[in-house]
Amino acid sequence: MPQAGDSVISIRDFGRDEILQVLAAAARMEECGHFGLLEGCVLATVFLEPSTRTRLSFASAMMKLGGQVLDFGEPEQSSFKKGESLSDAVRIVGGYCDVIALRHPWEGAARLAAQIAGVPVINAGDGANQHPTQTFLDLYTIQKVKGQVDGLTVGFVGDLKYGRTVHSLVTALSRFDCEQVFVAPPSLAMPEGLLAELQQGGVSYSQSEELAEVLPGLDILYCTRIQQERFADSLEYERVKGAYRLDRTLLRDSGARESLRIMHPLPRVDELAPDIDDTPHAVYFEQARNGVPVRQALLALVLGKV
Ligand code: CP
Repeated sequence: MPQAGDSVISIRDFGRDEILQVLAAAARMEECGHFGLLEGCVLATVFLEPSTRTRLSFASAMMKLGGQVLDFGEPEQSSFKKGESLSDAVRIVGGYCDVIALRHPWEGAARLAAQIAGVPVINAGDGANQHPTQTFLDLYTIQKVKGQVDGLTVGFVGDLKYGRTVHSLVTALSRFDCEQVFVAPPSLAMPEGLLAELQQGGVSYSQSEELAEVLPGLDILYCTRIQQERFADSLEYERVKGAYRLDRTLLRDSGARESLRIMHPLPRVDELAPDIDDTPHAVYFEQARNGVPVRQALLALVLGKV
C-alpha cells in the first residue's frame, strides 16, 4: 500500500495484498466521506493529453476531502511553448503543491517526474504504458459488482495493443485467480511482452478474434476504444476502426450470461451501443463514478493521512 511520500507510477509496483488494501481504503472513503481530511493540501493536475474522467475525478476527490486543486491548464498556454522541459516544469510545479497527478503522452514520463518533483506523483496515464489509478477503480468496480475478483473470467475487447487501461488491468488481474480472454484483430493484439509475462507467471489466458464466440463464457467484458491518436499509420486505423461493436442484439444472440457485467474506461466511440446503457449488464457509468473514492484513498495515502 502506498505510504506517505510515495508516488503511484505503475500497477506493477503493487502486490495482491497491497491492491486489496487500497480497495479497502477506497471503500472506507465511500462509506465515511472524511471531509476535511486533506484540508490545507494542494493537488496539481498536469494533463498534457485530453481527459475528462481522470482529471475531474482527481479534482473532485481532493475537493471532497477539503483540499485545493491547482490545474496546469492547457499546455499551449504554459511555458512548454517557450521550450521548457518536462523536468523543469515538474520541478517547478512540485514547489507549488503537495501532490501531482500527471498525464503525459510519453511512456515513462511519470516515473521520470517522480524522481524530480519533490512531492508524490500519481501517474494519470503515460502513453500506451500504464494507468494505475484507472486499474484500482476497475478492480474496485469488479469487487463491488461481483463480490470478489478471484474466480472470474474476464474478457478484453478492442485496442489491446495501445490500451494502457488494459495493460494495467491485465497485470493486476494476474495477481488474482482469474481467467483472461483477449479479443482483438491481429494488428491490435496484446503486446507479446505482456503475454510472455502472463505465461511465465502461469496465468491462464486465451486469444480470439471472435467476440460472439467468447461472450457466453465471460463474467466481465472490458471494452475499449480503438485509439486513433496512437496510430502512426492512419490507413491502419481505417482498416481496424469499427472492428467490434457490442449491442443488445449481439448480447442476446451470442448467449451472454444474464450475470455478465460490461465495463469500459470511457470515452466510447462506436464500440459500445447506447442500447446497452439501461440494461443490468452496463456498469461503466458506475465504474467512472468509482474514480472518486479510489482517488480519494490514493491521495490520502500518499499524503500520509490514512
Ligand atoms: N478513463 C479515462 O482515463 O478517461 P479520461 O481520458 O476521460 O480521463
